[in-house]
Amino acid sequence: MKIAFSAIDLKKPVLAVGIDESLKLADAAAQIDKAGKGIIAKVLKANPAFTGKVGQFLTVHQPAELPQAALLLVGLGQKAKLDNLAAMKIGGKLVAQANSLRVKEIAAVMPEAVLAAHAAYGAKLRSYRFDKYRTKEKAEDKPTLASITFLTKDPAAAKKAFAPLDSTAESIFLTRNLVSEPANVIYPASFVARAKELAKLGVKIKVLGEKEMTKLGMGALLGVGQGSRRESQLLILEWNGAAKTSQPVAFVGKGVTFDTGGISIKPAGGMEEMKWDMAGAATVTGLIRTLAARKAKVNVIGVAGLVENMPDGNAQRPGDVVTSMSGQTIEVVNTDAEGRLVLSDALHYVNTVYKPKFIVDLATLTGAIIIALGSSRAGLFSNDDKLAEQISDAAKDTDEPVWRLPLGDEYDKQINCDVADMQNVGYGREAGSITAAQFLQRFVGKTPWAHLDIAGVAWSKKDADFTPKGATAFGVRLLDRMVAKHYEGK
Ligand code: BES
Ligand code: MN
Ligand code: ZN
Repeated sequence: MKIAFSAIDLKKPVLAVGIDESLKLADAAAQIDKAGKGIIAKVLKANPAFTGKVGQFLTVHQPAELPQAALLLVGLGQKAKLDNLAAMKIGGKLVAQANSLRVKEIAAVMPEAVLAAHAAYGAKLRSYRFDKYRTKEKAEDKPTLASITFLTKDPAAAKKAFAPLDSTAESIFLTRNLVSEPANVIYPASFVARAKELAKLGVKIKVLGEKEMTKLGMGALLGVGQGSRRESQLLILEWNGAAKTSQPVAFVGKGVTFDTGGISIKPAGGMEEMKWDMAGAATVTGLIRTLAARKAKVNVIGVAGLVENMPDGNAQRPGDVVTSMSGQTIEVVNTDAEGRLVLSDALHYVNTVYKPKFIVDLATLTGAIIIALGSSRAGLFSNDDKLAEQISDAAKDTDEPVWRLPLGDEYDKQINCDVADMQNVGYGREAGSITAAQFLQRFVGKTPWAHLDIAGVAWSKKDADFTPKGATAFGVRLLDRMVAKHYEGK
């Protein structure tokens, strides 16, 4: 989909104009109303359901006295609350609306340049579609919109404001593509191959294979990949945007390219969803891409623990004891609680090798977080109030909501074990997301750390304002914002 900015021109054949909740006609709406002999006022009066809420639409086809084939009235919400996020939602909904009207081109009036740029960002994000494997979809079922133009007072300024947003959208698409690909296409080595594209943005890439990880003693991660024909990989992405002496920040992602559960095998129904059990790793990759693309003034390490959890003759068994890189031993009571095993070595590695200011990990870690929070908020766990606050704050800015859950000794002791230093599941099913987080905490030492359990939010079954159903890339915008607000140039 082509996105453009140009000067305000009220003669465009398919035109969207904004109306805020006061329903008072101003600017473009007032001008069009005048040219159309009061048509907008009449239409509003006849349609009391249109209240001007963000993203509401009222379409007037072939209005008499006007050159338009279709005039779309778009709700802008409360005028005082029309911020970047609201503009993104409006842009996203505009794309959906244009496709449902089956139009190819649309122009939308958004006078203020930065708001126009954000509307374009929302439009771009909503236009994403993972349809590369659909060879038989009929033209009449495909989206029609090929071009969207935002009409603004200062097109040059809007274009300039859009450039970094456009780049973040590309990073989000990288994450969404990695998450959407099936597990016969994206497995540890092919994930690494795609991430290597980041080299052209100046990202340093290091890859550890099974031989190197064996030398480092990463028995927990390697145990998970042991039943797979695909070689496990630890991918390390480095973006150095600040002075050499500046301590880095670190992001770690769970990258289970397919989770069958292993010998503790999952039921067949819905197992195909476990192709997206690498969403944490894909989010870290998209995040590093966007930080590098905008030359963020920060040193950052992204680590992806990439494994496939399969049940072959060499697979680890329930009851096996593995030794992690940290030296701590783990009884693998349930081979389906594999994400924490992968992360334990990835976390210890990044913590000891890079000594970061903080570590944030992202993982589709537990089904229990979906029971607790549903599919609208990620679970947040942290050993550091300041870090947790920075994440919660950025989450509000980007509308990627998080909810903090507790950690504590009473939960930690549920993973104590008679056989080894710990076991990889709690005794019962209670507080399953918390005991998983407790497990991770045992591998980060005293470093400020936060864990985002994104099992409920990484994939969406329904379209949202600027996020079409499917892979959401939850966390890319959030963590980009958090870094920008608190860790750049400091
Ligand atoms: N990848 C799953 C968690 C998951 C479930 C993500 C549903 C997305 C949707 C994870 O590896 C897992 O299997 N967790 C188990 C842990 C249990 C064995 C303690 C779970 O949540 O059932
Ligand atoms: Mn599992
Ligand atoms: Zn998993």
